[in-house]
Amino acid sequence: MTAVGIDAIEIRSGKLKLDLPNTFAPQKGDDPEKYTKGLGLQNSSFPDVYEDIVTMGANAAKRLMDRKGLEPADIGRIDVATESAFDHSKPVSTYIAGCLEKVYDGDFRHANKGERKFACVAGTQAVDDAYNWIQAGRHRDRAALVIATDTALYARGDPGEATQGAGAVAMLIDEDPDLVELSTHQGYGSMDETDFLKPNQQFPSVDGKRSMQVYLSRMREALEDYESVSGKIHLDDFAYAPFHTPFPGMVRKAALLAYRHVIRDTEHEDALADAIGRQPREEEYEDREAYEEAIREYMDALKTTEEYGAWYDEVVEPTLGLSREVGNWYTGSVHIARASALRDALDREGEFVGETLLVASYGSGAQAEIHAETLQEGWRAEIEALDIDDQLDARYDLSWDEYEDVHDVHEYDKDLDREIEEFTAPDGEFVFTGWGRMNE
Ligand code: CAA
Repeated sequence: MTAVGIDAIEIRSGKLKLDLPNTFAPQKGDDPEKYTKGLGLQNSSFPDVYEDIVTMGANAAKRLMDRKGLEPADIGRIDVATESAFDHSKPVSTYIAGCLEKVYDGDFRHANKGERKFACVAGTQAVDDAYNWIQAGRHRDRAALVIATDTALYARGDPGEATQGAGAVAMLIDEDPDLVELSTHQGYGSMDETDFLKPNQQFPSVDGKRSMQVYLSRMREALEDYESVSGKIHLDDFAYAPFHTPFPGMVRKAALLAYRHVIRDTEHEDALADAIGRQPREEEYEDREAYEEAIREYMDALKTTEEYGAWYDEVVEPTLGLSREVGNWYTGSVHIARASALRDALDREGEFVGETLLVASYGSGAQAEIHAETLQEGWRAEIEALDIDDQLDARYDLSWDEYEDVHDVHEYDKDLDREIEEFTAPDGEFVFTGWGRMNE
Protein backbone atom coordinates (compact mmCIF):
# COMPACT_ATOMS: atom_id res chain seq x y z
CA MET A 1 0.00 0.00 0.00
CA THR A 2 1.24 3.50 -0.82
CA ALA A 3 2.57 5.48 2.12
CA VAL A 4 0.17 8.39 2.71
CA GLY A 5 0.34 10.93 5.47
CA ILE A 6 1.16 14.49 6.48
CA ASP A 7 3.80 15.95 4.20
CA ALA A 8 4.01 19.38 5.83
CA ILE A 9 2.35 21.55 8.44
CA GLU A 10 2.18 25.24 9.19
CA ILE A 11 0.80 26.83 12.33
CA ARG A 12 -0.74 30.30 12.53
CA SER A 13 -1.52 31.82 15.90
CA GLY A 14 -3.87 34.70 16.61
CA LYS A 15 -1.67 37.80 17.06
CA LEU A 16 -2.85 38.80 20.54
CA LYS A 17 -2.34 37.09 23.88
CA LEU A 18 -4.09 37.06 27.23
CA ASP A 19 -1.86 36.27 30.20
CA LEU A 20 -3.90 33.97 32.45
CA PRO A 21 -2.04 34.15 35.79
CA ASN A 22 -1.22 37.86 35.59
CA THR A 23 -4.18 39.44 33.75
CA PHE A 24 -7.10 36.99 33.90
CA ALA A 25 -6.73 35.51 37.42
CA PRO A 26 -6.65 38.85 39.32
CA GLN A 27 -9.84 40.00 37.56
CA LYS A 28 -11.57 36.76 38.55
CA GLY A 29 -10.23 36.93 42.11
CA ASP A 30 -8.59 33.53 41.58
CA ASP A 31 -5.28 32.08 42.66
CA PRO A 32 -3.04 32.25 39.52
CA GLU A 33 -2.02 28.64 40.18
CA LYS A 34 -5.55 27.51 39.34
CA TYR A 35 -4.58 28.38 35.74
CA THR A 36 -0.88 27.51 35.68
CA LYS A 37 -0.97 24.35 37.81
CA GLY A 38 -4.64 23.32 37.73
CA LEU A 39 -5.53 23.85 34.07
CA GLY A 40 -1.87 23.96 33.01
CA LEU A 41 -2.16 27.17 30.96
CA GLN A 42 0.02 30.28 30.83
CA ASN A 43 -1.44 32.32 27.95
CA SER A 44 -4.24 32.25 25.38
CA SER A 45 -3.92 33.40 21.76
CA PHE A 46 -6.57 35.79 20.44
CA PRO A 47 -7.31 37.14 16.96
CA ASP A 48 -6.63 40.81 16.35
CA VAL A 49 -9.59 42.81 14.97
CA TYR A 50 -8.55 42.00 11.38
CA GLU A 51 -8.13 38.25 11.95
CA ASP A 52 -10.69 35.46 11.81
CA ILE A 53 -10.88 31.76 10.94
CA VAL A 54 -10.49 32.58 7.24
CA THR A 55 -7.46 34.85 7.53
CA MET A 56 -5.66 32.56 10.00
CA GLY A 57 -6.36 29.53 7.82
CA ALA A 58 -5.38 31.31 4.60
CA ASN A 59 -2.18 32.69 6.13
CA ALA A 60 -1.17 29.21 7.36
CA ALA A 61 -2.01 27.67 3.97
CA LYS A 62 -0.08 30.32 2.04
CA ARG A 63 3.06 29.82 4.10
CA LEU A 64 2.74 26.07 3.57
CA MET A 65 2.27 26.40 -0.18
CA ASP A 66 5.17 28.84 -0.52
CA ARG A 67 7.51 26.73 1.59
CA LYS A 68 6.68 23.57 -0.39
CA GLY A 69 6.78 25.39 -3.76
CA LEU A 70 3.15 24.56 -4.59
CA GLU A 71 0.73 26.15 -7.05
CA PRO A 72 -3.07 25.71 -7.04
CA ALA A 73 -2.71 23.04 -9.76
CA ASP A 74 -0.87 20.83 -7.24
CA ILE A 75 -3.82 20.79 -4.81
CA GLY A 76 -6.85 18.65 -5.65
CA ARG A 77 -8.81 19.05 -2.47
CA ILE A 78 -9.24 21.70 0.25
CA ASP A 79 -11.06 20.75 3.42
CA VAL A 80 -11.53 23.02 6.40
CA ALA A 81 -12.30 21.66 9.83
CA THR A 82 -13.85 24.17 12.17
CA GLU A 83 -16.47 24.61 14.84
CA SER A 84 -16.40 28.40 14.43
CA ALA A 85 -18.00 28.64 10.97
CA PHE A 86 -20.07 31.78 10.34
CA ASP A 87 -21.81 30.44 7.23
CA HIS A 88 -24.26 27.52 7.36
CA SER A 89 -24.11 26.95 3.61
CA LYS A 90 -20.85 27.93 1.96
CA PRO A 91 -17.84 26.08 3.36
CA VAL A 92 -14.98 28.06 4.88
CA SER A 93 -12.65 26.34 2.39
CA THR A 94 -14.21 28.41 -0.42
CA TYR A 95 -13.41 31.65 1.42
CA ILE A 96 -9.85 30.47 2.01
CA ALA A 97 -9.44 29.36 -1.62
CA GLY A 98 -10.74 32.82 -2.63
CA CYS A 99 -7.99 34.46 -0.58
CA LEU A 100 -5.29 32.21 -2.00
CA GLU A 101 -6.44 32.78 -5.58
CA LYS A 102 -5.64 36.48 -5.16
CA VAL A 103 -1.94 35.73 -4.72
CA TYR A 104 -1.24 32.72 -6.97
CA ASP A 105 -1.34 32.26 -10.71
CA GLY A 106 -4.13 29.86 -11.47
CA ASP A 107 -7.15 28.95 -9.40
CA PHE A 108 -8.72 26.11 -7.45
CA ARG A 109 -11.61 25.50 -9.89
CA HIS A 110 -10.56 21.85 -10.18
CA ALA A 111 -10.32 21.28 -6.40
CA ASN A 112 -13.00 19.56 -4.33
CA LYS A 113 -13.77 21.77 -1.32
CA GLY A 114 -15.64 20.99 1.84
CA GLU A 115 -16.06 21.63 5.53
CA ARG A 116 -15.79 18.97 8.21
CA LYS A 117 -17.72 19.29 11.46
CA PHE A 118 -17.54 17.17 14.55
CA ALA A 119 -16.28 19.57 17.21
CA CYS A 120 -12.50 19.24 17.76
CA VAL A 121 -12.11 15.78 16.18
CA ALA A 122 -13.05 17.26 12.79
CA GLY A 123 -9.42 18.24 12.08
CA THR A 124 -8.36 14.61 12.27
CA GLN A 125 -11.46 13.48 10.36
CA ALA A 126 -10.53 15.85 7.52
CA VAL A 127 -7.02 14.37 7.47
CA ASP A 128 -8.61 10.89 7.35
CA ASP A 129 -10.87 11.94 4.45
CA ALA A 130 -7.85 13.16 2.51
CA TYR A 131 -5.97 9.95 3.31
CA ASN A 132 -8.89 7.85 2.02
CA TRP A 133 -9.21 9.99 -1.13
CA ILE A 134 -5.55 9.43 -1.96
CA GLN A 135 -5.56 5.72 -1.07
CA ALA A 136 -8.65 5.28 -3.26
CA GLY A 137 -6.62 6.63 -6.19
CA ARG A 138 -9.01 9.51 -6.87
CA HIS A 139 -6.47 12.28 -6.41
CA ARG A 140 -4.90 12.39 -9.89
CA ASP A 141 -1.44 12.87 -8.33
CA ARG A 142 -2.60 15.95 -6.47
CA ALA A 143 -2.23 16.59 -2.74
CA ALA A 144 -4.92 17.62 -0.26
CA LEU A 145 -4.85 20.76 1.83
CA VAL A 146 -6.49 20.32 5.24
CA ILE A 147 -6.93 23.40 7.42
CA ALA A 148 -8.07 23.21 11.03
CA THR A 149 -9.04 26.74 12.11
CA ASP A 150 -10.97 28.05 15.09
CA THR A 151 -11.63 31.03 17.28
CA ALA A 152 -12.39 29.04 20.42
CA LEU A 153 -14.23 31.74 22.37
CA TYR A 154 -16.64 31.25 25.27
CA ALA A 155 -19.23 33.65 26.65
CA ARG A 156 -17.77 36.09 29.14
CA GLY A 157 -17.98 34.59 32.63
CA ASP A 158 -18.37 30.99 31.39
CA PRO A 159 -15.94 28.61 33.19
CA GLY A 160 -14.54 27.77 29.74
CA GLU A 161 -13.41 31.41 29.32
CA ALA A 162 -10.03 30.48 30.84
CA THR A 163 -9.42 27.87 28.13
CA GLN A 164 -10.03 30.08 25.07
CA GLY A 165 -7.66 30.32 22.11
CA ALA A 166 -7.45 31.08 18.40
CA GLY A 167 -5.31 29.70 15.62
CA ALA A 168 -5.06 27.56 12.52
CA VAL A 169 -3.04 24.53 11.43
CA ALA A 170 -2.61 23.85 7.71
CA MET A 171 -1.56 20.34 6.70
CA LEU A 172 -0.60 18.94 3.32
CA ILE A 173 -1.70 15.32 2.90
CA ASP A 174 0.18 13.46 0.19
CA GLU A 175 1.83 10.26 -0.97
CA ASP A 176 5.36 9.57 0.32
CA PRO A 177 5.00 12.22 3.03
CA ASP A 178 7.97 14.05 4.57
CA LEU A 179 6.55 14.28 8.11
CA VAL A 180 4.46 11.26 9.19
CA GLU A 181 2.79 8.28 7.55
CA LEU A 182 -0.69 7.53 8.91
CA SER A 183 -1.65 4.05 10.08
CA THR A 184 -4.42 2.17 8.33
CA HIS A 185 -5.67 1.16 11.80
CA GLN A 186 -8.05 3.44 13.67
CA GLY A 187 -10.10 3.06 16.81
CA TYR A 188 -13.29 4.94 17.66
CA GLY A 189 -15.40 5.70 20.71
CA SER A 190 -18.52 7.58 19.65
CA MET A 191 -21.84 8.37 21.33
CA ASP A 192 -24.59 11.02 21.14
CA GLU A 193 -23.82 13.38 24.04
CA THR A 194 -25.00 16.87 25.04
CA ASP A 195 -21.98 18.05 27.02
CA PHE A 196 -20.92 20.86 24.63
CA LEU A 197 -23.21 22.33 21.98
CA LYS A 198 -23.61 25.39 19.74
CA PRO A 199 -27.11 25.10 18.25
CA ASN A 200 -27.35 28.30 16.18
CA GLN A 201 -25.25 30.21 18.67
CA GLN A 202 -21.69 31.46 18.56
CA PHE A 203 -20.56 30.60 22.08
CA PRO A 204 -20.94 27.05 23.36
CA SER A 205 -23.31 25.81 26.04
CA VAL A 206 -21.02 23.61 28.08
CA ASP A 207 -21.43 21.23 30.96
CA GLY A 208 -17.72 21.50 31.78
CA LYS A 209 -17.29 18.76 34.38
CA ARG A 210 -19.40 16.33 32.41
CA SER A 211 -17.50 17.13 29.23
CA MET A 212 -14.35 15.88 30.97
CA GLN A 213 -16.01 12.59 31.91
CA VAL A 214 -17.31 12.15 28.37
CA TYR A 215 -13.82 12.82 26.98
CA LEU A 216 -12.36 10.08 29.19
CA SER A 217 -15.11 7.53 28.45
CA ARG A 218 -14.92 7.95 24.68
CA MET A 219 -11.09 7.88 24.82
CA ARG A 220 -11.14 4.56 26.71
CA GLU A 221 -13.53 3.10 24.11
CA ALA A 222 -11.36 4.35 21.25
CA LEU A 223 -8.29 2.72 22.81
CA GLU A 224 -10.12 -0.59 23.13
CA ASP A 225 -11.39 -0.31 19.57
CA TYR A 226 -7.92 0.55 18.29
CA GLU A 227 -6.43 -2.52 19.97
CA SER A 228 -9.15 -4.68 18.44
CA VAL A 229 -7.52 -3.99 15.04
CA SER A 230 -3.87 -3.29 15.92
CA GLY A 231 -3.45 -5.93 18.63
CA LYS A 232 -2.38 -5.14 22.19
CA ILE A 233 -0.33 -1.96 22.43
CA HIS A 234 2.65 -1.64 24.76
CA LEU A 235 4.22 1.26 26.65
CA ASP A 236 7.38 1.31 24.56
CA ASP A 237 5.54 1.22 21.21
CA PHE A 238 5.25 5.02 21.09
CA ALA A 239 7.78 7.86 21.27
CA TYR A 240 5.04 10.40 22.05
CA ALA A 241 1.29 10.39 22.62
CA PRO A 242 -0.29 13.69 21.48
CA PHE A 243 -3.85 14.05 22.80
CA HIS A 244 -6.55 16.56 22.02
CA THR A 245 -5.66 19.31 24.51
CA PRO A 246 -8.49 21.64 25.54
CA PHE A 247 -6.11 22.47 28.42
CA PRO A 248 -3.10 20.47 29.66
CA GLY A 249 -4.88 19.43 32.89
CA MET A 250 -7.34 17.41 30.77
CA VAL A 251 -4.47 15.54 29.14
CA ARG A 252 -3.01 14.68 32.56
CA LYS A 253 -6.25 12.79 33.25
CA ALA A 254 -6.43 11.17 29.82
CA ALA A 255 -2.77 10.06 29.98
CA LEU A 256 -3.31 8.33 33.32
CA LEU A 257 -6.33 6.52 31.90
CA ALA A 258 -4.36 5.45 28.82
CA TYR A 259 -1.44 4.27 30.95
CA ARG A 260 -3.70 2.14 33.16
CA HIS A 261 -5.29 0.66 30.06
CA VAL A 262 -1.99 -0.12 28.37
CA ILE A 263 -0.30 -1.77 31.39
CA ARG A 264 -3.29 -3.95 32.23
CA ASP A 265 -2.33 -7.65 32.17
CA THR A 266 1.31 -6.89 31.38
CA GLU A 267 4.62 -7.19 33.22
CA HIS A 268 4.32 -3.45 34.04
CA GLU A 269 1.18 -4.10 36.07
CA ASP A 270 2.95 -7.03 37.79
CA ALA A 271 5.97 -4.88 38.59
CA LEU A 272 3.80 -2.28 40.34
CA ALA A 273 1.66 -4.83 42.19
CA ASP A 274 3.80 -4.96 45.35
CA ALA A 275 3.62 -1.20 45.75
CA ILE A 276 0.04 -0.38 44.72
CA GLY A 277 -1.74 -3.71 44.17
CA ARG A 278 -3.22 -5.00 40.92
CA GLN A 279 -5.89 -3.21 38.92
CA PRO A 280 -9.38 -3.85 40.25
CA ARG A 281 -11.39 -6.29 38.07
CA GLU A 282 -15.11 -5.57 37.87
CA GLU A 283 -16.09 -9.16 38.62
CA GLU A 284 -14.36 -8.90 42.01
CA TYR A 285 -16.82 -6.23 43.23
CA GLU A 286 -20.41 -6.44 44.42
CA ASP A 287 -21.60 -3.48 42.45
CA ARG A 288 -20.44 -0.89 39.95
CA GLU A 289 -20.09 1.82 42.60
CA ALA A 290 -17.65 -0.24 44.69
CA TYR A 291 -15.67 -1.10 41.54
CA GLU A 292 -15.46 2.54 40.46
CA GLU A 293 -14.29 3.59 43.92
CA ALA A 294 -11.58 0.93 43.78
CA ILE A 295 -10.51 2.16 40.33
CA ARG A 296 -10.27 5.72 41.63
CA GLU A 297 -8.04 4.56 44.50
CA TYR A 298 -5.86 2.55 42.12
CA MET A 299 -5.50 5.54 39.76
CA ASP A 300 -4.57 7.84 42.66
CA ALA A 301 -1.84 5.41 43.67
CA LEU A 302 -0.70 4.81 40.07
CA LYS A 303 -0.30 8.54 39.52
CA THR A 304 2.32 8.71 42.29
CA THR A 305 4.53 5.87 41.00
CA GLU A 306 7.95 6.64 39.56
CA GLU A 307 7.20 4.43 36.56
CA TYR A 308 4.14 6.42 35.57
CA GLY A 309 5.90 9.75 36.22
CA ALA A 310 8.84 8.80 34.01
CA TRP A 311 6.56 7.66 31.16
CA TYR A 312 4.42 10.79 31.41
CA ASP A 313 7.47 13.09 31.40
CA GLU A 314 8.92 11.44 28.32
CA VAL A 315 5.86 10.62 26.22
CA VAL A 316 3.10 13.09 27.15
CA GLU A 317 4.47 16.23 28.84
CA PRO A 318 6.42 17.31 25.69
CA THR A 319 3.14 17.38 23.72
CA LEU A 320 1.80 20.24 25.87
CA GLY A 321 4.35 23.00 25.21
CA LEU A 322 2.39 24.96 22.59
CA SER A 323 -0.97 24.40 24.23
CA ARG A 324 0.23 26.03 27.47
CA GLU A 325 1.05 29.14 25.44
CA VAL A 326 -2.00 29.34 23.18
CA GLY A 327 -5.01 27.69 24.90
CA ASN A 328 -7.58 25.58 23.10
CA TRP A 329 -7.60 25.71 19.29
CA TYR A 330 -10.41 23.14 19.03
CA THR A 331 -9.86 21.39 15.65
CA GLY A 332 -6.17 22.36 15.57
CA SER A 333 -5.47 21.30 19.13
CA VAL A 334 -4.24 17.72 18.63
CA HIS A 335 -2.20 18.91 15.65
CA ILE A 336 -0.30 21.46 17.73
CA ALA A 337 0.20 18.71 20.34
CA ARG A 338 1.95 16.64 17.64
CA ALA A 339 4.05 19.67 16.67
CA SER A 340 4.98 20.32 20.33
CA ALA A 341 6.17 16.73 20.68
CA LEU A 342 8.29 16.89 17.54
CA ARG A 343 9.83 20.17 18.62
CA ASP A 344 10.87 18.34 21.77
CA ALA A 345 12.35 15.53 19.64
CA LEU A 346 14.56 18.06 17.84
CA ASP A 347 16.45 18.52 21.12
CA ARG A 348 16.67 14.83 22.00
CA GLU A 349 19.30 12.37 20.93
CA GLY A 350 18.38 9.95 18.19
CA GLU A 351 17.01 10.07 14.70
CA PHE A 352 13.38 9.25 15.52
CA VAL A 353 12.81 8.18 11.89
CA GLY A 354 10.55 5.11 11.96
CA GLU A 355 9.37 5.84 15.51
CA THR A 356 5.67 5.98 16.19
CA LEU A 357 3.23 8.46 17.71
CA LEU A 358 -0.07 7.43 19.28
CA VAL A 359 -2.43 10.23 18.26
CA ALA A 360 -5.58 10.62 20.34
CA SER A 361 -8.15 13.04 18.90
CA TYR A 362 -11.43 14.02 20.51
CA GLY A 363 -14.51 16.08 19.77
CA SER A 364 -17.38 16.87 22.11
CA GLY A 365 -20.78 15.58 21.27
CA ALA A 366 -18.84 13.11 21.29
CA GLN A 367 -16.19 11.07 19.49
CA ALA A 368 -12.63 9.98 20.17
CA GLU A 369 -10.34 8.59 17.49
CA ILE A 370 -7.01 6.84 17.99
CA HIS A 371 -4.50 6.16 15.26
CA ALA A 372 -0.73 5.77 14.92
CA GLU A 373 1.73 7.79 12.84
CA THR A 374 5.27 6.87 11.81
CA LEU A 375 7.93 9.55 11.54
CA GLN A 376 9.44 9.91 8.07
CA GLU A 377 12.93 10.88 6.86
CA GLY A 378 12.00 14.53 6.38
CA TRP A 379 10.36 15.14 9.77
CA ARG A 380 13.23 17.16 11.21
CA ALA A 381 13.37 19.68 8.35
CA GLU A 382 9.60 20.08 8.45
CA ILE A 383 9.55 20.87 12.17
CA GLU A 384 12.63 23.11 11.99
CA ALA A 385 10.81 25.18 9.34
CA LEU A 386 8.03 26.21 11.74
CA ASP A 387 8.09 29.85 12.83
CA ILE A 388 5.62 29.47 15.68
CA ASP A 389 8.06 30.62 18.38
CA ASP A 390 8.56 33.93 16.55
CA GLN A 391 4.80 34.33 16.20
CA LEU A 392 4.21 33.67 19.90
CA ASP A 393 6.97 36.07 20.95
CA ALA A 394 5.52 38.81 18.71
CA ARG A 395 1.99 38.61 20.17
CA TYR A 396 0.54 41.79 21.65
CA ASP A 397 -0.04 41.35 25.40
CA LEU A 398 -3.62 42.48 26.15
CA SER A 399 -4.61 44.42 29.25
CA TRP A 400 -7.92 43.41 30.80
CA ASP A 401 -9.83 46.32 29.20
CA GLU A 402 -8.31 45.50 25.81
CA TYR A 403 -9.28 41.85 26.23
CA GLU A 404 -12.89 42.91 26.84
CA ASP A 405 -12.78 44.97 23.64
CA VAL A 406 -11.32 42.10 21.60
CA HIS A 407 -13.93 39.68 22.90
CA ASP A 408 -16.67 42.16 21.92
CA VAL A 409 -15.20 42.61 18.42
CA HIS A 410 -15.35 38.88 17.79
CA GLU A 411 -18.88 38.42 19.12
CA TYR A 412 -20.89 38.23 15.88
CA ASP A 413 -24.15 39.71 17.13
CA LYS A 414 -22.75 42.37 19.40
CA ASP A 415 -23.84 45.92 18.61
CA LEU A 416 -20.56 47.70 19.20
CA ASP A 417 -21.02 51.26 20.44
CA ARG A 418 -17.35 52.12 19.95
CA GLU A 419 -14.57 51.79 17.38
CA ILE A 420 -11.91 49.26 18.38
CA GLU A 421 -8.54 49.89 16.75
CA GLU A 422 -6.26 47.04 15.74
CA PHE A 423 -3.46 46.24 18.21
CA THR A 424 -0.85 45.03 15.71
CA ALA A 425 -0.04 46.08 12.15
CA PRO A 426 -0.77 43.60 9.34
CA ASP A 427 2.42 42.52 7.63
CA GLY A 428 1.89 41.19 4.08
CA GLU A 429 -0.93 38.88 5.15
CA PHE A 430 -4.61 38.19 4.53
CA VAL A 431 -6.80 40.46 6.62
CA PHE A 432 -10.52 40.49 7.32
CA THR A 433 -12.27 43.31 5.51
CA GLY A 434 -15.87 42.14 5.77
CA TRP A 435 -17.81 39.83 3.44
CA GLY A 436 -15.78 38.82 0.39
CA ARG A 437 -12.53 38.89 2.27
CA MET A 438 -9.67 40.61 0.48
CA ASN A 439 -5.95 40.27 0.60
CA GLU A 440 -4.35 43.32 2.18
N1 CAA B 1 -3.80 25.66 42.64
C1 CAA B 1 -3.67 24.54 41.90
N2 CAA B 1 -4.70 23.92 41.28
C2 CAA B 1 -5.93 24.47 41.40
C3 CAA B 1 -6.15 25.64 42.15
C4 CAA B 1 -5.03 26.24 42.79
N3 CAA B 1 -5.14 27.35 43.51
N4 CAA B 1 -7.47 25.93 42.07
C5 CAA B 1 -8.07 24.98 41.31
N5 CAA B 1 -7.13 24.11 40.91
C6 CAA B 1 -7.31 22.95 40.04
C7 CAA B 1 -8.58 22.14 40.35
O1 CAA B 1 -8.35 21.22 41.41
C8 CAA B 1 -8.83 21.50 39.00
O2 CAA B 1 -7.96 20.41 38.81
P1 CAA B 1 -8.51 18.89 38.87
O3 CAA B 1 -9.59 18.78 37.83
O4 CAA B 1 -7.31 18.07 38.55
O5 CAA B 1 -9.04 18.71 40.26
C9 CAA B 1 -8.39 22.57 37.99
O6 CAA B 1 -7.54 23.45 38.72
C10 CAA B 1 -9.55 23.39 37.44
O7 CAA B 1 -10.26 23.92 38.53
P2 CAA B 1 -11.85 23.86 38.55
O8 CAA B 1 -12.31 22.48 38.20
O9 CAA B 1 -12.34 24.45 39.82
O10 CAA B 1 -12.14 24.85 37.32
P3 CAA B 1 -13.52 25.35 36.76
O11 CAA B 1 -14.67 24.63 37.37
O12 CAA B 1 -13.50 26.84 36.83
O13 CAA B 1 -13.42 24.97 35.22
C11 CAA B 1 -13.55 23.42 33.41
C12 CAA B 1 -12.80 23.81 34.68
C13 CAA B 1 -14.90 22.81 33.79
C14 CAA B 1 -12.72 22.41 32.63
C15 CAA B 1 -13.79 24.70 32.52
O14 CAA B 1 -12.56 25.27 32.17
C16 CAA B 1 -14.59 24.43 31.26
O15 CAA B 1 -15.82 24.36 31.28
N6 CAA B 1 -13.89 24.30 30.11
C17 CAA B 1 -14.54 24.09 28.81
C18 CAA B 1 -14.90 22.66 28.58
C19 CAA B 1 -13.70 21.79 28.34
O16 CAA B 1 -12.65 22.21 27.93
N7 CAA B 1 -13.86 20.49 28.61
C20 CAA B 1 -12.79 19.52 28.38
C21 CAA B 1 -13.32 18.22 27.82
S1 CAA B 1 -14.31 18.52 26.38
C22 CAA B 1 -13.16 18.78 25.12
O17 CAA B 1 -12.02 18.47 25.24
C23 CAA B 1 -13.64 19.42 23.85
C24 CAA B 1 -13.19 20.84 23.81
O18 CAA B 1 -12.16 21.13 23.28
C25 CAA B 1 -14.03 21.86 24.45
